[in-house]
Amino acid sequence: MTALLAHCRAAVFDAYGTLFDVHSAVAQETAALGAKAEAVSLLWRQKQLEYTWLRSLMGRHADFWQVTRDGLDFALASHGIDDPALADRLMQLYLRLDAYPDAAPLLARLKAARRTSAILSNGTPAMIKAAAAASGLALDHLISIEATGIYKPHPAVYQLAVDLLGPASQICFVSTNSWDARGAAAYGLQVVWLDRWSRMADRLPGEFRATIKTLDDLPALLGLD
Ligand code: LAC
Repeated sequence: MTALLAHCRAAVFDAYGTLFDVHSAVAQETAALGAKAEAVSLLWRQKQLEYTWLRSLMGRHADFWQVTRDGLDFALASHGIDDPALADRLMQLYLRLDAYPDAAPLLARLKAARRTSAILSNGTPAMIKAAAAASGLALDHLISIEATGIYKPHPAVYQLAVDLLGPASQICFVSTNSWDARGAAAYGLQVVWLDRWSRMADRLPGEFRATIKTLDDLPALLGLD
């Protein structure tokens, strides 16, 4: 892999699905959810994201904590589960999701190379701060879309990274969510799609500069090897 993005001084990461495993919350409650656990977790994530897009279109913003709770309540009710205490526990688990094992080593490499690191996420400031603290991930900046009041992939969200870190041409943005990666690329950031699960990329505008399978592949792209 060539050092295609060696000119990027900052690496900006999506949070949920990219650095943090969103399914690690339900994984702690398999005793309560039994055989429904995986389906509940997948539907929870799907509805959480749909509600961000739908609320943005409706002009009825609610923060990601609320949207996450609404998605969870939908997923549990869809599977016939009426257990508010379980829902409360799952929301608390969302504040301390597991980090993927490739995240901490990469952040250490970036720090050693004096590159700036940041999260840019739909999550509220409190949610991102809690997840980073609980997993021990150290980033230079935690950027929440709450400053804009609209969700990804609205261009105003990616503009937040530019406002803080400088020109879009020098910001590398990494996301596993291909629709988020497309949005960032359409805005003008230098995008690396992290294709952890060998999925199809969404058919949306915005060209990726590169596609990788693990964060271990990022240092070479950034010229850190
Ligand atoms: C985020 C969602 C999109 O962290 O995963 O912004």
